[in-house]
Amino acid sequence: MSSTAFAAGSGYDRVARATHWLLAALAVIVVSFGWASEAAPRNTAARDNLLLLHRSLGLVILALVVFHILWRLRHRAPPLPATVGRLQRAVAHLTQSGLEAIFLIMPLAGYVNAAAAGHPVSLFGVVAIPPLLPVDERLSQFAIAVHLLGQYLVYLLVALHVTGALHHALIRRDGVLDRMLPPRRLRAKTRPM
Ligand code: HEM
Ligand code: HEM
Repeated sequence: MSSTAFAAGSGYDRVARATHWLLAALAVIVVSFGWASEAAPRNTAARDNLLLLHRSLGLVILALVVFHILWRLRHRAPPLPATVGRLQRAVAHLTQSGLEAIFLIMPLAGYVNAAAAGHPVSLFGVVAIPPLLPVDERLSQFAIAVHLLGQYLVYLLVALHVTGALHHALIRRDGVLDRMLPPRRLRAKTRPM
């Protein structure tokens, strides 16, 4: 059904869209749980549960980003409208690659922090991912420093990315946001005026 609109090269395919919006939602949730666990009193069950959810969702994001990257390597992005200039394209691509990179680095740094301290990481309390690294306290400390500093890169890149999306949707109205939306809206919006 949707393939005709996408065959015309106007939008992202269903899998790319689904993983993208799932990632966007999980990114907001994982950061909220990160803040909440930082704010919760130490050595309480509440904090442990918040951290369990934070870590588990972070690992789900890691898997999703890897999947998204592999998918996108095999399924090319639809071309941007010709009205989008070279500088803007470059900034958009840099921001998107930066987002992919930071959403790989953050969960990996979180995992290394635990693993290099000799701790497994529990996935929703169901399976435990064992520490796959030798114990190295300095590496563990370095990893948490990367994690805590990395959050600012997350905020910066997400802010740039969302500002770009809103700029296209509200000011330029050039259909760039629609490429990431379901095809019915895409078609309705791209009908001749
Ligand atoms: C996309 C994935 C992730 C993002 C964006 C993220 C982001 C954050 C943020 C924003 C904080 C709060 C920092 C602060 O308030 O200063 C945090 C804390 C933390 N995160 Fe993550 N995180 C992710 C995944 C993970 C994973 C997979 C682990 C472990 C396996 C982990 C372990 C931690 C730990 C231990 C803390 C410190 C919490 C505390 O001291 O209470 N994170 N993270
Ligand atoms: C609410 C937040 C978000 C909004 C409104 C948004 C919006 C968009 C839009 C409109 C596009 C299409 C741009 C184009 O056609 O080139 C896009 C692409 C993209 N977005 Fe987001 N996004 C959000 C969050 C995120 C997050 C958290 C990530 C983290 C990985 C992300 C990663 C990407 C990537 C990598 C692309 C390039 C297309 C692709 O590979 O699928 N976005 N985003």
